[in-house]
Amino acid sequence: MPRKILVTNALPYANGDIHLGHLVGYIQADVWVRYQRMRGHTVHYVCADDTHGTPIMLRAEKEGITPEALIERVHGEHLRDFTGFHVAFDNYHSTHSDENRAYAEDFYAKLRAAGFIETRAIEQFYDPKREMFLPDRFIKGDCPKCGAADQYGDNCEACGAAYAPTELKNPRSAVSGATPELRSSEHFFFRLSDPRAVAFLREWTRGANAAGTRRLQQEAANKMREWLGDEGENTLSDWDISRDAPYFGFEIPGAPGKYFYVWLDAPIGYLASFRNYAGKTGGIEVEDYTDPARAERAGTEMVHFIGKDILYFHALFWPAMLHFAGYRTPTQLAVNGFLTVDGAKMSKSRGTFITAQSYLDQGLNPEWLRYYFATKSNSTMEDVDLNLDDMIAKVNSDLVGKFVNIASRCAGFITKRFEGRLAAADEAACAEFRAACESGVIARAYEERDFGRATREIMRLADIANQYVNDHKPWELAKQDGQEARLHQVCSTALTMFRDLSLYLKPVLPATAARVEAFLAIDPMVWPGTWQPLPAGHVITPYQHMMTRVERKQIDALIEANRESLAPAPASASSEQRHAERQQHQAQAAETASPHISIDDFAKVDLRVARIVSAEHVEGADKLLRLQLDIGEDKPRQVFAGIKSAYDPAALVGRLTVMVANLAPRKMKFGMSEGMVLAASDENDKAAGLYILSPDSGARPGMRIR
Ligand code: MSP
Ligand code: ZN
Repeated sequence: MPRKILVTNALPYANGDIHLGHLVGYIQADVWVRYQRMRGHTVHYVCADDTHGTPIMLRAEKEGITPEALIERVHGEHLRDFTGFHVAFDNYHSTHSDENRAYAEDFYAKLRAAGFIETRAIEQFYDPKREMFLPDRFIKGDCPKCGAADQYGDNCEACGAAYAPTELKNPRSAVSGATPELRSSEHFFFRLSDPRAVAFLREWTRGANAAGTRRLQQEAANKMREWLGDEGENTLSDWDISRDAPYFGFEIPGAPGKYFYVWLDAPIGYLASFRNYAGKTGGIEVEDYTDPARAERAGTEMVHFIGKDILYFHALFWPAMLHFAGYRTPTQLAVNGFLTVDGAKMSKSRGTFITAQSYLDQGLNPEWLRYYFATKSNSTMEDVDLNLDDMIAKVNSDLVGKFVNIASRCAGFITKRFEGRLAAADEAACAEFRAACESGVIARAYEERDFGRATREIMRLADIANQYVNDHKPWELAKQDGQEARLHQVCSTALTMFRDLSLYLKPVLPATAARVEAFLAIDPMVWPGTWQPLPAGHVITPYQHMMTRVERKQIDALIEANRESLAPAPASASSEQRHAERQQHQAQAAETASPHISIDDFAKVDLRVARIVSAEHVEGADKLLRLQLDIGEDKPRQVFAGIKSAYDPAALVGRLTVMVANLAPRKMKFGMSEGMVLAASDENDKAAGLYILSPDSGARPGMRIR
């Protein structure tokens, strides 16, 4: 029985670029969708931009354009990026659309009628200058716990404390810089604390869908249990679903000046995009996917792919909204972990905050990343590490070395010696391929979204195919008399094996699979029920190269292209505020000014990352430590540094720091000093201490700083 599945990806915010972190979830969904289609199932795969909210409103203002113009531009950029990575939505819509407004109003009316909407006044910070209520992230101030300056409204980056924005000391608006005032305003709430909602969610989050598959992965279900508390406990609070004007979003019917909070209409955008798609194509009964009774009868599924940071919205608010507004609830949530690059959070200064566009602009093959992400996807919520060296190794060894290599070694003989015509395959040699097909191991792995397991199994088969070619050496058969038939059979068999590998990799490598289909002159490959070799007599086309190797220098160039050398101003600051801050800075700088130097002057200073290999007190010197610094040279440099007052030598050993490497060596009383380490201090306040510098992790001794 063919399945009918509505698949969605989280809707990206319309104020940021798509980056490789986003792509983890989009690629996983796209691979799953392609696999399901190869099985003959009907899949509608939709997404949209998430366009509402204060950040988008302020961002548009900063750019001097309307929010509508901003979201339209970003829509084009996002769609371009997804298409570039072969993430092929059937429809890419917008939450700022008629369909979404209609759905949002319908949800609201139904939830209200069912007694789930309540209004009450709450007190919130208000920016009197910009005349708006401030979301937490637009309020800054000193941490109430540790006093650290410039902390956001909900938690402190210095000490980790969580608090309400009203607890901040010296609060100020990050929008205008004004001191915010507490003001009261009427808000709309979705009553999640209603016993009906709690009881429903307890059951829903634990349960399975009609096919017997759990709706949530184990770890997600466990998280839910934590949030929902034990039976009898009520740990859910009501959810504030309104925001006051000025706001970019949908005004709440019958409540002028009140808007739906962005997260209310965002998931509704899944349905809006689907509705919009159905309107364009015809022939899709939307209600078969959205109405509980009809969905049950039609046996349709609804699967949401999301990242782990938005689980709360999708496993609590969204199913409760759907259920109590009379809609069907999701059959499955597929939750992915977060991307790290070389073991660390993506970082703009390290160049590992890599945008989708930069990857494509550098001419890197999107299928390399799709394959690498597939090998690292195991259907859990664990974080996914993009280890750049590992990616290069895997792509080059698996895809180029094992997979493509089979065809490139055999196809030429078929074309040159047999006019492109295949012989019957040696079926006995294909036993493992037949078994893999008939056991369904790879299919199961795809179905369960364990793409890592699928690719491992595929590479096991690729090893078998390569072994077969190595054992029979077509290049030697080609030189021997009387081996024509054998050569013909070996190459034909290898190409059947190659076809199998291509078909198994097709969900991950759709563009390569299309090239394979053209090369082998076969119909688009679908998932086989039974195993069949390529038929004898079938004519293929001349082999064209399928995939090139990744070079380390391409990856280095990508990192370089994404490296931001200057710390960007905080994303939340408005341009006026940033301008004001800059002016203040410049004024301060002018007071303490030193005359300008040219970039060439600066370039004369050779700054290097240095590892402190040893540090010791110097007999007879009360300020100095003797350091041995490794900057990648044959032997370490000796440097005397006046940092004794601030550092215990033992604590310095092993640390990375920054040194001036081309300072003329200087003979001191205690020996030669062959450089200088840099340290920060306040000239006017010696008591403020002395601080040496450290590069971010990942820097290596000898790296030049410029
Ligand atoms: N707009 C919301 C989603 C609304 S869905 C009704 C949102 N947008 S987002 O642009 O921040 O993120 C889009 C998707 O990318 C989310 O699934 C999010 O979890 C995922 N990721 C964003 N950064 C990520 C990583 N660094 N790693 C993996 N996934 C990441 O959230
Ligand atoms: Zn703090």
